[in-house]
Amino acid sequence: MPNGPKTRPELSLLGDYVPGKSIDEVREKYGLDSVVKLASNENPLGPSPKAVEAAVRALSDAHRYPQGNAPSLTAALAAKLGVAPGKLVFSNGSDEMVQMVAEAWIAPGSEVLICEPTFSEYRFAAQLAGAEVRALPLKEGRFDLEALLGAVTEHTSAVFVCCPNNPTGGWNSRAELLAFLDALPERVLLVLDQAYGEFAPAAGASDYDGLLDQTDRPNLVLLRTFSKIHALAGLRIGYAIASPELVRALYKVKQPFNVGLVSQAAAVAALGDDGHMERSLRLVSEGMEFLRGTFASWGWTVLPSAANFLAVKPSCGSAKELVAELESQGLILRWMASFGMPDFFRITIGTKAENARFVELADAWRRKQ
Ligand SMILES: Cc1ncc(COP(=O)(O)O)c(C=O)c1O
Repeated sequence: MPNGPKTRPELSLLGDYVPGKSIDEVREKYGLDSVVKLASNENPLGPSPKAVEAAVRALSDAHRYPQGNAPSLTAALAAKLGVAPGKLVFSNGSDEMVQMVAEAWIAPGSEVLICEPTFSEYRFAAQLAGAEVRALPLKEGRFDLEALLGAVTEHTSAVFVCCPNNPTGGWNSRAELLAFLDALPERVLLVLDQAYGEFAPAAGASDYDGLLDQTDRPNLVLLRTFSKIHALAGLRIGYAIASPELVRALYKVKQPFNVGLVSQAAAVAALGDDGHMERSLRLVSEGMEFLRGTFASWGWTVLPSAANFLAVKPSCGSAKELVAELESQGLILRWMASFGMPDFFRITIGTKAENARFVELADAWRRKQ
């Protein structure tokens, strides 16, 4: 369409997002009755029944617009976290919050620092905002804070740090993050994505810390989500925790009705279900122990992880072949080639039965190599 409207030049830099295969796609492709998906770091327990009930109840108000400032959810979350309500703002998944941060603070022509491989949304949002992305390599699976600090220039507007990092699971300790924050110029924003942070104790990362007590800093935004520990990925609720000044800036770029009324109601109920959260954490800690033990007995390499997934390199055959073989048998994993790590696959910790099914299939594949 040579005569059509010109897209913005930034779009030429953006690749297409390639989502993992869905359960329905795999079921149809191979004619299977049941498919297990351990590819997207979802919570396999499913949502809290209390959240489902609240969502169903809220549906009868679906003709009303939601309250843009989510007052019930704000109050419930503020009480749960022990932070002031003025430090919270919600988004349509934390994906959207990454874009809101970019709209508020990333100026065209500025530089944004990240490490890679990581969650693709930081690069996407920064490039869309017209910024230059400088990506440094991870160090042992986690963000290399020293190198990032060394890369800050007068043009740097923001640094994104994913902790625990997707797809490797690596994390930076509280001491490392505090030293980084202390050395970072206050005019540079640190966006600390903690989508998986709640899993860190269950994964055995005792030196992980959510830095809630640092949120008075003028240049720190924490990103969190209801998609993982709270098992509400399909309802799209993320949030930021930051000083009230930063939250006010995020409110300026926020669409008034970005989190639906059903989602808000479900999130409030999810926060009230401690039993569901405990079960989710137990599932991760038991599943981690089981899978780490299995991989060790096979001699496969497993990266240290503070999240609800593991990055794994088989010692025989190839990760690509394993992922293809298991998919044909109805178990979806994530091959890490799109992250630049083609020797690895990523597996989300599933239910006990799902993990056992994976081990059964992977063991059979391994014995054929
Ligand atoms: C590191 C990280 N941050 C943010 C997200 C986005 O989560 P959501 O938009 O569902 O809140 C994900 C999703 O997988 C993620 O891995």
